[in-house]
Amino acid sequence: MKNLDEINSIKNYYLTNNKEDVLKHIEDVAEIAVGLATAYNLDITKTKLAALLHDISGIMTPQKMYDFAKIRSLEIDPAEEKYHALLHQRVSKIIAQDEFGVTDSDILNAIECHTTLRKNASLYDKIIFIADKISWDQKFAPFFDDLIKNATIEALNKACYSYIKYQFDNNLLVMAHQWLIDAFDELKMNI
Ligand SMILES: [Fe+2]
Ligand SMILES: [Fe+2]
Repeated sequence: MKNLDEINSIKNYYLTNNKEDVLKHIEDVAEIAVGLATAYNLDITKTKLAALLHDISGIMTPQKMYDFAKIRSLEIDPAEEKYHALLHQRVSKIIAQDEFGVTDSDILNAIECHTTLRKNASLYDKIIFIADKISWDQKFAPFFDDLIKNATIEALNKACYSYIKYQFDNNLLVMAHQWLIDAFDELKMNI
Protein backbone atom coordinates (compact mmCIF):
# COMPACT_ATOMS: atom_id res chain seq x y z
CA MET A 1 0.00 0.00 0.00
CA LYS A 2 1.46 3.30 -1.08
CA ASN A 3 1.32 5.89 1.64
CA LEU A 4 0.54 9.56 1.50
CA ASP A 5 4.24 10.47 1.21
CA GLU A 6 4.54 8.53 -2.05
CA ILE A 7 1.45 10.17 -3.47
CA ASN A 8 2.79 13.56 -2.42
CA SER A 9 6.15 12.83 -4.05
CA ILE A 10 4.35 12.19 -7.37
CA LYS A 11 2.43 15.44 -7.06
CA ASN A 12 5.62 17.33 -6.16
CA TYR A 13 7.31 15.94 -9.27
CA TYR A 14 4.76 17.77 -11.42
CA LEU A 15 5.04 20.93 -9.36
CA THR A 16 8.86 21.08 -9.35
CA ASN A 17 8.73 20.73 -13.13
CA ASN A 18 6.21 23.57 -13.41
CA LYS A 19 3.43 21.32 -14.64
CA GLU A 20 0.53 22.61 -12.57
CA ASP A 21 -1.80 22.07 -15.53
CA VAL A 22 -0.86 18.40 -15.83
CA LEU A 23 -1.20 18.01 -12.04
CA LYS A 24 -4.73 19.36 -12.21
CA HIS A 25 -5.53 16.92 -15.03
CA ILE A 26 -4.09 13.83 -13.32
CA GLU A 27 -5.92 14.66 -10.07
CA ASP A 28 -9.12 14.93 -12.08
CA VAL A 29 -8.44 11.58 -13.77
CA ALA A 30 -7.64 10.00 -10.38
CA GLU A 31 -10.98 11.11 -8.96
CA ILE A 32 -12.91 9.72 -11.94
CA ALA A 33 -10.85 6.50 -12.05
CA VAL A 34 -11.28 5.85 -8.32
CA GLY A 35 -15.04 6.23 -8.73
CA LEU A 36 -15.01 3.70 -11.57
CA ALA A 37 -12.63 1.34 -9.73
CA THR A 38 -14.98 1.35 -6.73
CA ALA A 39 -17.90 0.38 -8.98
CA TYR A 40 -15.83 -2.38 -10.63
CA ASN A 41 -14.29 -3.66 -7.36
CA LEU A 42 -10.74 -2.92 -8.41
CA ASP A 43 -7.87 -2.05 -6.10
CA ILE A 44 -8.24 1.65 -5.30
CA THR A 45 -4.59 2.27 -4.46
CA LYS A 46 -3.39 0.75 -7.72
CA THR A 47 -5.97 2.67 -9.73
CA LYS A 48 -5.04 5.93 -8.02
CA LEU A 49 -1.32 5.41 -8.64
CA ALA A 50 -1.90 4.58 -12.31
CA ALA A 51 -4.01 7.73 -12.68
CA LEU A 52 -1.51 9.98 -10.90
CA LEU A 53 1.42 8.65 -12.93
CA HIS A 54 -0.23 8.25 -16.34
CA ASP A 55 1.00 11.60 -17.71
CA ILE A 56 4.21 11.84 -15.67
CA SER A 57 6.24 12.17 -18.91
CA GLY A 58 4.43 15.47 -19.45
CA ILE A 59 7.56 17.07 -17.98
CA MET A 60 9.30 16.32 -21.33
CA THR A 61 8.95 17.85 -24.77
CA PRO A 62 7.86 15.44 -27.54
CA GLN A 63 11.40 15.51 -28.95
CA LYS A 64 12.81 14.53 -25.55
CA MET A 65 10.31 11.67 -25.37
CA TYR A 66 11.46 10.49 -28.78
CA ASP A 67 15.14 10.67 -27.83
CA PHE A 68 14.35 8.86 -24.56
CA ALA A 69 12.50 6.11 -26.48
CA LYS A 70 15.38 5.74 -28.95
CA ILE A 71 17.96 5.45 -26.16
CA ARG A 72 15.77 2.77 -24.59
CA SER A 73 15.55 1.00 -27.97
CA LEU A 74 11.76 1.03 -27.96
CA GLU A 75 10.16 -0.14 -31.17
CA ILE A 76 8.53 2.99 -32.55
CA ASP A 77 5.06 2.81 -34.13
CA PRO A 78 4.74 4.82 -37.39
CA ALA A 79 2.23 7.10 -35.65
CA GLU A 80 4.76 7.73 -32.86
CA GLU A 81 7.44 8.34 -35.47
CA LYS A 82 5.29 11.09 -36.95
CA TYR A 83 3.79 12.44 -33.70
CA HIS A 84 6.34 12.02 -30.95
CA ALA A 85 3.88 13.09 -28.24
CA LEU A 86 2.09 9.77 -28.78
CA LEU A 87 5.06 8.16 -27.05
CA HIS A 88 4.14 9.83 -23.78
CA GLN A 89 2.13 6.85 -22.52
CA ARG A 90 5.09 4.48 -22.92
CA VAL A 91 7.61 6.97 -21.54
CA SER A 92 5.37 7.58 -18.51
CA LYS A 93 5.48 3.86 -17.77
CA ILE A 94 9.28 3.87 -17.77
CA ILE A 95 9.44 6.91 -15.46
CA ALA A 96 6.94 5.21 -13.12
CA GLN A 97 9.30 2.24 -12.96
CA ASP A 98 12.59 4.08 -12.77
CA GLU A 99 11.78 7.16 -10.71
CA PHE A 100 8.94 5.88 -8.54
CA GLY A 101 9.85 2.20 -8.25
CA VAL A 102 6.50 0.92 -9.51
CA THR A 103 6.64 -2.81 -10.28
CA ASP A 104 2.95 -3.74 -10.33
CA SER A 105 2.00 -4.81 -13.85
CA ASP A 106 -1.63 -3.67 -13.55
CA ILE A 107 -0.42 -0.13 -12.84
CA LEU A 108 2.36 -0.14 -15.45
CA ASN A 109 0.19 -1.58 -18.22
CA ALA A 110 -2.62 0.90 -17.57
CA ILE A 111 -0.16 3.81 -17.78
CA GLU A 112 1.42 2.39 -20.93
CA CYS A 113 -1.77 2.20 -23.00
CA HIS A 114 -3.87 5.02 -21.52
CA THR A 115 -4.01 6.97 -24.82
CA THR A 116 -4.46 4.19 -27.35
CA LEU A 117 -5.66 1.23 -25.33
CA ARG A 118 -4.61 -2.09 -26.97
CA LYS A 119 -5.95 -5.58 -27.49
CA ASN A 120 -6.40 -7.83 -24.45
CA ALA A 121 -6.68 -4.71 -22.30
CA SER A 122 -7.42 -5.29 -18.61
CA LEU A 123 -10.14 -3.62 -16.55
CA TYR A 124 -7.47 -1.29 -15.14
CA ASP A 125 -6.36 -0.38 -18.68
CA LYS A 126 -9.90 0.40 -19.75
CA ILE A 127 -10.77 2.36 -16.62
CA ILE A 128 -7.70 4.60 -16.86
CA PHE A 129 -8.28 5.01 -20.62
CA ILE A 130 -11.90 6.07 -20.22
CA ALA A 131 -11.26 8.20 -17.10
CA ASP A 132 -8.65 10.13 -19.10
CA LYS A 133 -11.14 10.77 -21.90
CA ILE A 134 -13.97 11.75 -19.54
CA SER A 135 -11.65 14.26 -17.86
CA TRP A 136 -10.74 15.86 -21.19
CA ASP A 137 -14.18 16.21 -22.65
CA GLN A 138 -17.51 16.82 -20.91
CA LYS A 139 -19.18 15.14 -23.88
CA PHE A 140 -18.14 11.82 -22.40
CA ALA A 141 -19.35 12.54 -18.86
CA PRO A 142 -22.55 10.48 -19.42
CA PHE A 143 -20.32 7.40 -19.76
CA PHE A 144 -19.35 7.89 -16.13
CA ASP A 145 -22.93 7.76 -14.87
CA ASP A 146 -23.67 4.72 -17.01
CA LEU A 147 -20.55 2.86 -15.85
CA ILE A 148 -21.20 3.63 -12.18
CA LYS A 149 -24.79 2.45 -12.53
CA ASN A 150 -24.14 -0.70 -14.55
CA ALA A 151 -20.52 -1.61 -13.74
CA THR A 152 -20.44 -4.41 -16.28
CA ILE A 153 -17.65 -5.36 -18.64
CA GLU A 154 -20.11 -4.83 -21.49
CA ALA A 155 -20.76 -1.24 -20.42
CA LEU A 156 -17.02 -0.58 -20.12
CA ASN A 157 -16.30 -2.10 -23.54
CA LYS A 158 -19.10 -0.03 -25.05
CA ALA A 159 -17.69 3.18 -23.54
CA CYS A 160 -14.19 2.44 -24.88
CA TYR A 161 -15.57 1.44 -28.28
CA SER A 162 -17.78 4.54 -28.51
CA TYR A 163 -14.90 6.85 -27.73
CA ILE A 164 -12.57 5.32 -30.34
CA LYS A 165 -15.39 5.26 -32.92
CA TYR A 166 -16.02 8.94 -32.22
CA GLN A 167 -12.35 9.64 -32.96
CA PHE A 168 -12.47 7.75 -36.26
CA ASP A 169 -15.86 9.13 -37.32
CA ASN A 170 -14.77 12.71 -36.74
CA ASN A 171 -11.32 12.32 -38.28
CA LEU A 172 -9.67 13.29 -35.02
CA LEU A 173 -6.79 10.92 -35.62
CA VAL A 174 -4.31 12.25 -38.13
CA MET A 175 -2.61 8.89 -37.89
CA ALA A 176 -3.93 5.98 -35.85
CA HIS A 177 -1.56 4.05 -33.60
CA GLN A 178 -1.58 0.31 -34.26
CA TRP A 179 -2.55 -0.42 -30.64
CA LEU A 180 -5.69 1.72 -31.09
CA ILE A 181 -6.63 -0.07 -34.31
CA ASP A 182 -6.16 -3.45 -32.61
CA ALA A 183 -8.20 -2.36 -29.58
CA PHE A 184 -10.99 -1.06 -31.79
CA ASP A 185 -11.13 -4.25 -33.87
CA GLU A 186 -11.30 -6.37 -30.73
CA LEU A 187 -13.93 -4.19 -29.01
CA LYS A 188 -16.05 -4.26 -32.17
CA MET A 189 -16.31 -8.05 -31.82
CA ASN A 190 -17.33 -7.81 -28.17
CA ILE A 191 -20.03 -5.20 -27.98
FE1 LIG B 1 -1.91 11.11 -21.63
FE1 LIG C 1 -4.10 12.20 -19.39
